[in-house]
Amino acid sequence: MKGVVLAGGTGSRLRPLTHIINKHLLPVGDMPMIQHALEKLAEAGIEDVLVITGKQSAGLYLDYLGGGDALGIKLTYKIQEKAGGIAEALALAEDFIRPGEKFVVILGDNLFKDSLVQMIDAFRQQEEGAMVILKEVPDPSRYGVATIKDGRIEQIEEKPAQPQTRYAVTGIYLYDATVFDIIKTQAPSARGEMEITDVNNVYAASGKLSHRFFTNWWIDAGTHESLFQANLLVRREDTPCKPC
Ligand code: G1P
Repeated sequence: MKGVVLAGGTGSRLRPLTHIINKHLLPVGDMPMIQHALEKLAEAGIEDVLVITGKQSAGLYLDYLGGGDALGIKLTYKIQEKAGGIAEALALAEDFIRPGEKFVVILGDNLFKDSLVQMIDAFRQQEEGAMVILKEVPDPSRYGVATIKDGRIEQIEEKPAQPQTRYAVTGIYLYDATVFDIIKTQAPSARGEMEITDVNNVYAASGKLSHRFFTNWWIDAGTHESLFQANLLVRREDTPCKPC
């Protein structure tokens, strides 16, 4: 299975830091944010990875990650010319994925503790469709929120003012190659973006969207507050606090 890491976007919620550098190169713990996603993929045996990023800092990605040798993976890069939403960025992976092939997508600002091994294994067994990873959170209205009926995701609402559950849809998605056909049927949302939630809802409506839960911490480091929290969480993992 291949991997795709989405590392574009404007990082508007992290200004002014993102005026000088792409969000996914900001430090989290002792490495750039994107390296966490790449290491999770490498750990799960995903060795062929496409990084999709904007023009900003594109050279720095090459300087730092190169072909991926240091991480034990093979990296390919693609440039998203203008930010137009997650689904639009994902569409750029179409040439990278062969028809009939399955793949895993990570939003580069998503950091988490759990290994992806079990989810990827389960998705290999799944005949077709997609899988999302959920996490129960106290503040669901910041995310896509899933409603579940009879053990299946019924629907996902993007950033609902009044969420019906606390099940945030994390930025880790597993797809079959039909995702590219689905993206082509979608239109931009009210905020002018091609929403990944709309794509996932097509799978949900046809009963082909499975899910798993993260049991350990997960964070979307897209804001100053959550970037700070991400640093604390990663730091805590690296150096177990001795006397406290
Ligand atoms: C995106 C998705 C949202 C998801 C989140 C996870 O939101 O649209 O459904 O819950 O990533 O990080 P964004 O953070 O791009 O606004």
